[in-house]
Amino acid sequence: MANEYHIPAMLSECTDALAVHAKGIYADLTFGGGGHSRAILKAGAGHLYSFDQDLDALQNAIDDKRWTFVHSNFRYLRNWMDYYGEPGVDGILADLGVSFHHFDTAERGFSFRFDGPLDMRMNKSGKLTAADIVNTYSEEDLAHVLWLYGELKNSRSIARAICKVRSLALIERTEQLVDIVKLDKKDLPKLFQALRIEVNDEMGALKDMLLSAKEVLKPGGRFVVLTYHSLEDRMVKNFFRSGNIDGEIEKDFYGNSLSPFRVIEKGRMASVEEVERNPRSRSAKLRVAEKL
Ligand SMILES: C[S@@+](CC[C@H](N)C(=O)[O-])C[C@H]1O[C@@H](n2cnc3c(N)ncnc32)[C@H](O)[C@@H]1O
Repeated sequence: MANEYHIPAMLSECTDALAVHAKGIYADLTFGGGGHSRAILKAGAGHLYSFDQDLDALQNAIDDKRWTFVHSNFRYLRNWMDYYGEPGVDGILADLGVSFHHFDTAERGFSFRFDGPLDMRMNKSGKLTAADIVNTYSEEDLAHVLWLYGELKNSRSIARAICKVRSLALIERTEQLVDIVKLDKKDLPKLFQALRIEVNDEMGALKDMLLSAKEVLKPGGRFVVLTYHSLEDRMVKNFFRSGNIDGEIEKDFYGNSLSPFRVIEKGRMASVEEVERNPRSRSAKLRVAEKL
């Protein structure tokens, strides 16, 4: 089941980077198919809290006394650790974005490869859907989302085409949207990525999570993140270098960096063999930092 649900990227690289030790407390913020979580438990973690905002992930539940599932957005990491009485954790893993399960399930609406409702919510009780964005955002706001999160150069003309059609009838299906925008194979994923990021407030959640993780990680604890697109990668890179979202490195009187992290991995990619075996790992970038 877990394998169909998701194939974890850079599995051994992530587990090694976490430097799991017995009795250590760990948080896997993106449980999904549970591949990374299982590896962390196998490596001997004392306890593992696995987060996912999508309850579908629970079909991959792990039968182990050392495991706790947290059905929540990872932006609330610190609140949950307080709730469980954990003053700090020894390692945090975040494998960002959506799972194969999301991309491959037509009814979730994440993929332009199938017809499905324009949904794209990772958390099925979330308020905003992709249909809401497409049908209610102003043309200007829509173009902004497509430009900002999809880096689509022709975002304005795409937004115009969408607004023209929606004034006649609601746009409710992925296939309808694909027909309207008339984009080539290279740009369609960007359009769907942009809507998905907006629906799930992915950049806002990432920001809150990074700040929360900084507080929760114990000194010496490892922070391991897999990013999949340039926006989130830039945010994580800046945060690891500086300890803040703006990427401004504070320095002491002598010019030494006051960053709370030591950067260990600066964007390592999956091996050629892995990409051959699992083509979806090709955009993964591994970033690792240690809390000082
Ligand atoms: C790339 S998959 C992780 C796959 C996982 N590492 C594995 O081995 O199967 C990302 C998962 O994180 C979840 N997710 C993404 N953003 C989240 C957030 N802000 N809070 C909680 N879960 C999130 C998604 O629902 C999805 O199941």
